[in-house]
Amino acid sequence: MAATTNSRAPEGFSAIEGFDAHPGRGRFNSVFFSVLGGYIDWHLRSHKASAFAQLPPTVVELGAGVGANLRYLADDAHLIAVEPNPYMHARLRRAARAHGVDLEIRDVVGERIDLPDASVDAVISSLVLCTVSDPDAVLAEVRRILRPGGRFSFAEHVGAEPGTPTRWVQRVLRVPWAWVFEGCSCERDLAAVIRSAGFAGVDLESYRIHSPFVPFNTHIAGTAIA
Ligand SMILES: C[S@@+](CC[C@H](N)C(=O)[O-])C[C@H]1O[C@@H](n2cnc3c(N)ncnc32)[C@H](O)[C@@H]1O
Repeated sequence: MAATTNSRAPEGFSAIEGFDAHPGRGRFNSVFFSVLGGYIDWHLRSHKASAFAQLPPTVVELGAGVGANLRYLADDAHLIAVEPNPYMHARLRRAARAHGVDLEIRDVVGERIDLPDASVDAVISSLVLCTVSDPDAVLAEVRRILRPGGRFSFAEHVGAEPGTPTRWVQRVLRVPWAWVFEGCSCERDLAAVIRSAGFAGVDLESYRIHSPFVPFNTHIAGTAIA
């Protein structure tokens, strides 16, 4: 892998173009999603179960984190995890072993996936398009690597309707939230981004959860067909 923009990659890891691994926040996020992953998943579980139903044996996951979606994969699945944050990798490996999933980590960003054109049947993501630098570029890559008829299934959090109290909280907390959660924005209209990405078809639902993390409570889940 080329690249070299990241001077803070931990010892033993290569720098990754387009992703600046931060030692403190990287470790914090790895622990945060390990500790609270089950709680977050509990809020999203029925929507994820529907979006991620009947995945094929080999799946590419964008921003797999510490393995929140391993439980939705088929038995003996092969997971190709596009995960540029090296601080997630050890926990992700441990979780994959515990779930019996054959894991392959690609330490590249979703904006530049090192897989050939039309080479995979399914790509999944959860809580990732909020954080990537360029969601349009990521979705172009998803379409590029999917075979015609392949599926992109997602569960993402999105901006609330403009003018609502939740949207106001999302705007007020924009800067500290992005700082803590490594660039995460709670204000993206990801339904519009996915619908305009050139997929043959998109089926998605919008829903609300009721967690104490108010900016995080507005969600979409669904599937887009390449
Ligand atoms: C909020 S966490 C979600 C992790 C996991 N998907 C989940 O549902 O718990 C966002 C993840 O996206 C990853 N990420 C950030 N920027 C990325 C990029 N440009 N391409 C791919 N993954 C990225 C982060 O390293 C992190 O693991």
